[in-house]
Amino acid sequence: MKPQNVLQLACEPIPVVRIGFVGLGNRGILALERYMHLEGVEVKALCDLRTENLDRAADVLQRFGRTAATRYAETGGWQALCERTDLDLVYICTDWLTHTDIAVYALQQGRHVALEVPAAMSVADCWRLVDTAEQVRRHCMMLENCCYDAYALTALNMVQQGVLGEITHAEGAYIHDLRRHYFADETQGGYHNHWMKLYSQQHTGNPYPTHGLGPICQWMGIHRGDRLDYLVSMSSRQAGLSAYAERIFGADSREAQQPYEMGDVNSTLIRTVKGRTILLQYDVATPRPYSRHQTLCGTKGFLQKYPVPCLFLDGHGKEPLAGEALQELLDRYQHPFTREIGGEARRKEMPNEMNYIMDYRLVYCLRHGLPLDQDVYDAAEWSCITELSELSVRQGSVPIPIPDFTRGHWE
Ligand SMILES: NC(=O)c1ccc[n+]([C@@H]2O[C@H](COP(=O)([O-])OP(=O)(O)OC[C@H]3O[C@@H](n4cnc5c(N)ncnc54)[C@H](O)[C@@H]3O)[C@@H](O)[C@H]2O)c1
Repeated sequence: MKPQNVLQLACEPIPVVRIGFVGLGNRGILALERYMHLEGVEVKALCDLRTENLDRAADVLQRFGRTAATRYAETGGWQALCERTDLDLVYICTDWLTHTDIAVYALQQGRHVALEVPAAMSVADCWRLVDTAEQVRRHCMMLENCCYDAYALTALNMVQQGVLGEITHAEGAYIHDLRRHYFADETQGGYHNHWMKLYSQQHTGNPYPTHGLGPICQWMGIHRGDRLDYLVSMSSRQAGLSAYAERIFGADSREAQQPYEMGDVNSTLIRTVKGRTILLQYDVATPRPYSRHQTLCGTKGFLQKYPVPCLFLDGHGKEPLAGEALQELLDRYQHPFTREIGGEARRKEMPNEMNYIMDYRLVYCLRHGLPLDQDVYDAAEWSCITELSELSVRQGSVPIPIPDFTRGHWE
């Protein structure tokens, strides 16, 4: 029998969501700390290859007066964790190349899965996530926190209320100077076994498309009436990491001599079936101010978050709205998630409210048996750009088709 799609999947409500965390490095430990502020969750299991990270995680539980969780430190410990029948959700914060194997195994054991971005690094792995989620009918949500950014949610609200007219173009990015983290040891805030540096030595294209693309796909209703059709991608030459390493470690150092495939700046253009365009950029290797662009062009208005918030609406004068007039409109279209859940985050003095809203919504939907805000098709559509942009770059920026992971159900 052909598996049915899992669009709008609703599962039985879970009164208290029992969670196992896999990967407790830079990101995972912060996620665990955030979960200490949510109601209706119980952390039952912790898994990481480094005992130092497990110690830190156990300290978090103790500090918040929670019951100690079972620890899994050995290679393959994540499998034993996924096999536990007393877990509802496996929450994955490991490095990019390990996400899919852990997620697929957890789904096959009957667990729901939340996994960090990107969900998968190849088109084949995107399909593995979709196929498995459909076979077992469990949730598989990629943790795309930028969809819960206050500005992104305001934009979504404006689009849904028709304020910006018909949307024809959007721009997103991940521009974040990560040069220090590339070379740092993992005890100094670097990545486990330098996984990001190793990936950059072997790959090009845009390996981290989802922060920019996620909110845009929600604004454009991707696989809810439109779908990503094809892309073209171009990368600049690599110079940023080498120049940085030369300055910090010296021209003769191993770090400065290492070759990198990844160009400093990647630009990818995507066209949707309904003729809308998306520009995505990636740059973590030059001293450039942080930006996710978040730019949206409609027939009645224009909106952008970076470098400075800007809103232009037909019928509201010749200049972009600024100051009080801008704030008045942003307040008027503030999304209920920002007002209510974000308000709670601010009262609890949580850093970066978009993470809190994401966690809150995931747990809320699981506890109430509701479909999640992001489904496995979102995870696949946004993540597949990683491999497809690389394919385009390596073939002189040729157009590459983007698969329809919904198998025709996108309308
Ligand atoms: N959404 C965001 O804003 C955001 C921010 C930062 C990182 N991330 C994502 O989070 C993920 C982790 O990033 P990070 O900075 O924490 O990396 P990290 O290297 O600090 O942490 C990864 C952890 O996973 C552990 N690990 C790796 N393989 C494992 C295995 N087989 N079993 C158990 N543990 C294993 C490592 O020991 C390490 O502690 C990445 O996918 C990254 O893209 C997302």
